Amino acid sequence: MRSIWSITANHFKAEKPKEKKAEVIVIGAGMAGVLTAYFLKQAGISVMILEANGVGSGQTKNTTAKITAQHGAIYHKLIENFGWEKARQYADANRIALDQYKRLIKDLSIECDFEIMPSYLYSLKEEEILEKEAICSRNLGLDTSYTTKTTLPFTVKSAVKMERQAQFHPLRFLYALADNLPVYEHTKVIKIKDKKIWTDQGEFYGDKIIFTSHYPFLNFPGLYFTKIHQERSYLSAWKTDYPLDGMYYGIDKDGLSFRRFQNMLLIGGASHRTGENTSGGNYDRLKQAGKIYFPTSSLQMLWSAQDCITLDEIPYIGKYSRLYSNWYVATGFKKWGMSFSMIAARLLSDQIMGVPNPYASIFSPQRFSLKAEKEKIKEGCYSIKNLWKEFMTVPKNVFESLAPGQGGVVRYQGKKVGAFKDKNGKVYLVSTKCPHLGCQLAWNPEELTWDCPCHGSRFDYKGNLLNNPSKKSISWRGEKELINGGKDR
Ligand SMILES: Cc1cc2nc3c(=O)[nH]c(=O)nc-3n(C[C@H](O)[C@H](O)[C@H](O)COP(=O)(O)OP(=O)(O)OC[C@H]3O[C@@H](n4cnc5c(N)ncnc54)[C@H](O)[C@@H]3O)c2cc1C
Ligand code: FES
Repeated sequence: MRSIWSITANHFKAEKPKEKKAEVIVIGAGMAGVLTAYFLKQAGISVMILEANGVGSGQTKNTTAKITAQHGAIYHKLIENFGWEKARQYADANRIALDQYKRLIKDLSIECDFEIMPSYLYSLKEEEILEKEAICSRNLGLDTSYTTKTTLPFTVKSAVKMERQAQFHPLRFLYALADNLPVYEHTKVIKIKDKKIWTDQGEFYGDKIIFTSHYPFLNFPGLYFTKIHQERSYLSAWKTDYPLDGMYYGIDKDGLSFRRFQNMLLIGGASHRTGENTSGGNYDRLKQAGKIYFPTSSLQMLWSAQDCITLDEIPYIGKYSRLYSNWYVATGFKKWGMSFSMIAARLLSDQIMGVPNPYASIFSPQRFSLKAEKEKIKEGCYSIKNLWKEFMTVPKNVFESLAPGQGGVVRYQGKKVGAFKDKNGKVYLVSTKCPHLGCQLAWNPEELTWDCPCHGSRFDYKGNLLNNPSKKSISWRGEKELINGGKDR
């Protein structure tokens, strides 16, 4: 399902460079990669982007595209977990990122529906948390206030308003910026050793290499698979004339996100860990919310996206690992990758040019905290459980029991397979083993995909790779046609 941004942006094709060598090679042309390459080029550094698909074809095309320092009720937690100094750095970095967007859009006259407006957190149940959040964020220098007045179509118990935040059209912005950048589209990086990069389009060389591939797909060095998981959320666009004034984010368990785009209202929510959507119903939740809260509106589009979450919920931006001093990474944006992409672009270009950056330590991928180490153990146990499932469990259901439109892990000729039966009775068989590190894939009935609970790789029902860290598709075990719902022929 295509997002509102994909449908409303003009088609973009990057100009292919002739060189296969550059001082800096950036992997991935999403918001983080394009912004980073832009600043490096501005600084006179030779740079090139390698992109597996097209510019903006990853999560950036499916975002909500709010540019804000208001990332949920985080500031009181950041102060509790990391202290005032680090919390202030987080707030400052995001505040400055928004100013940098403003300046760039103005200086380059980019037409990208950029609008300044307040951002709100709201709760239907809690009061205390948002009261605390308002005080903490204000004390960190952010222009926030506690309120109960919003333009939402329902009464809220509490809200925090942050003044002068922004929203935009992410692809119109991205395409304008990528227009003058050297990008090899449809060039998938497969292997890297020091300065040499192997792709499906040949070999490339970069003195420095930046991974802005969303999930850093190389397992060693860096061991990012031990410290990142992915979460999916769902979005809907509704045609409406409802006068919503601001961008909203619900902090309650089933809280919804709202923003406008022209004559549309975007409603998002229903978040879960990738690979944990075995019963579906997320799009239905958004459809229901739209009908209840905006009864005169009409549903236009539905889509979804996922983002990387780090152990301490602060992105990893900086050196990829201690082993290769010429590799860099930007990941783990926790669904706030518009401002974090700008932070990453400034920080990484400073590091490459040897300029000190005040935010290097808070975002350093090599930072250590006891809390994060505890989370790492939890992540490890979760992965072992899903690895064990693949090796040791035998599915209860057999292949023949699938109803049309249904998929799942089943037994077929004594073996475990992933199967999806389409409306015409054709069954698509795939391996249930994730090619990344071997965890058992879970069927996602809502999106007809095979999703990995361990680190979030995804595949379509035919086994084609949709999202990394896996670099490969899942093995294809063929198509079968069932007669009378019985034996295959
Ligand atoms: C539902 C949802 C709503 C969100 N809303 C907001 C919001 O309102 N505001 C906000 O700030 N953030 C938001 N985010 C987060 C934001 O969308 C992401 O953090 C951001 O888009 C990530 O950008 P990126 O450049 O890191 O990744 P991507 O856009 O995914 O780019 C990575 C690129 O790398 C390429 N790639 C991957 N592997 C390879 C390879 N091997 N070789 C070559 N290329 C490769 C991919 O094709 C892709 O184009 C939201 C996220 C979700 C899930
Ligand atoms: S994504 Fe890592 S094992 Fe599947």
